[in-house]
Amino acid sequence: MDFTQFTVASEDLGKFGGDVFIYCFIQSDKGFEDCDKAISNPLQKAYELGDFSGKSGEQILLYPESEQTGSGIPAKRMAICGIGKIGPDTAVTEIRELLRKFGGGIAKLSEKVKASRIMIRLPELEKIDVVQTTECIVEGVALGDYRFVKYKKPDPEEKIYPGLQEVILVSDSSETSVRRGMAMGENAAKAACLARDMANEPANKWTAENFAILARTLAGKYAMKCRVLEKKDMRRLKMGGILAVNQGSSEPPKMVILEYSAKKNKQTLLLVGKGLTFDSGGISLKPAAGMEDMKYDMCGGAAVLAFMQAVGVEKPDLNIIAMIPATDNMSGSSAVKPGDVISHYGGITSEIVNTDAEGRMILADALAYGIKKFKPDCVIDLATLTGAAIIGLGHHYTGLLSNNDALVNRLVEAGERSGEPLWRLPLGKDYTKQIDSKVADIKNAGGRDGGTITAAAYLEKFVGKTVWAHLDIAGTAWDFTEKSYIPKGPSGIGVRTLLELVRNWKKTDG
Ligand code: BES
Ligand code: MN
Ligand code: ZN
Repeated sequence: MDFTQFTVASEDLGKFGGDVFIYCFIQSDKGFEDCDKAISNPLQKAYELGDFSGKSGEQILLYPESEQTGSGIPAKRMAICGIGKIGPDTAVTEIRELLRKFGGGIAKLSEKVKASRIMIRLPELEKIDVVQTTECIVEGVALGDYRFVKYKKPDPEEKIYPGLQEVILVSDSSETSVRRGMAMGENAAKAACLARDMANEPANKWTAENFAILARTLAGKYAMKCRVLEKKDMRRLKMGGILAVNQGSSEPPKMVILEYSAKKNKQTLLLVGKGLTFDSGGISLKPAAGMEDMKYDMCGGAAVLAFMQAVGVEKPDLNIIAMIPATDNMSGSSAVKPGDVISHYGGITSEIVNTDAEGRMILADALAYGIKKFKPDCVIDLATLTGAAIIGLGHHYTGLLSNNDALVNRLVEAGERSGEPLWRLPLGKDYTKQIDSKVADIKNAGGRDGGTITAAAYLEKFVGKTVWAHLDIAGTAWDFTEKSYIPKGPSGIGVRTLLELVRNWKKTDG
């Protein structure tokens, strides 16, 4: 599916004649006082009847006679959409979220009436500038307009809705600002949708090899450097973790490395994403119910790689290296067994007490190798690592564990601004003790208690003193809090948080 084209309205609005013209309405105690005259007339009745007050998600569809909307712009339909209440106390992060939801609602409405060309009149808000307003609305529309229908044959009775073709933005503000916000929103949404696409591919269509292919494509497109460590390289480098996890599989593993270099060599950020293309649990086999969801166990890798596309477009002022250890976790006759002892890159030995705790094993090699090779100033890993993250935080917050308070603060802020909230969990020696082993340096599972923390404690062994944060996205990579701009399947979580973090990198690091 082609991505929607976003444009800024030209002078000649009178020629629009598209499917829907969209007005926004901010819920206010003052009712209509501040409202655009063009919509106050048709709205009056709906407002009096209590059918519409501008709440977030409320929408009214009108069919203007003579195809003239209130503002004299010709369109087949006119929609008035509520943004919600924005008062003096409303935080900027909340407004951003309201605007994304408003955008997502527009995508849903467009699907309902099968609209292909729409025009949106952007609101003028006091508390946030037009760049952010545009960014968030565009992001919401583009994220809400996502669908994955690749493997479904069209119903001959009903045409498949291909999504929005063109979205035209109308604003009284400076065109440059609108264009800037538009580019930001589009770039973020496109990358998040790319991550969703990867995740939606079933495990028989998305293997470790596919991560390598996409990374090479991105490298070619955006002048980045791509290297893929093959099984023989892993053997040479003694990456015993990823090799062990891959032992039961017929698909070779890949360690995909994609490097973006800033023009002026500044700081280096290393990202590691769990690219487990299917997690059967291995010999410690998972129960059958819901196992199909384990094709999503590569969402960390998908987020990191999709984020690199956004990096390629925006070219931020720091070096960024993405690493995706990729394999499936299967239970073939040569599979790793409970009780086996393996040796990670760098020499730490690990007793495998549960082959289903495989994420940390592939991440450990990637973290140790990436830190040794690239000497990053900061490392962030993203992984669908533990079911315990879902028990602890449900599907609304990503678990955050880190050895650095400043990085935590920056990530939490980036998450808030992107509508992808993070909640910090502790680390510490008492948790680390849970992964002590009698036969090896550590063991790969620390029991049920504090499962998300002991998994992070395992990773912590491989980052040394490097500033590091771990995002456990098990609860949020799919089934994330449903909103107009977050679909039911994979959410693309992490991509926009990373982008927000990197966009503000200079501000915090001088
Ligand atoms: N990929 C799973 C974690 C997971 C489970 C993510 C459910 C999303 C939904 C991971 O590899 C795993 O199996 N973790 C085990 C660890 C345990 C054996 C110590 C878990 O959480 O049960
Ligand atoms: Mn597992
Ligand atoms: Zn897993």
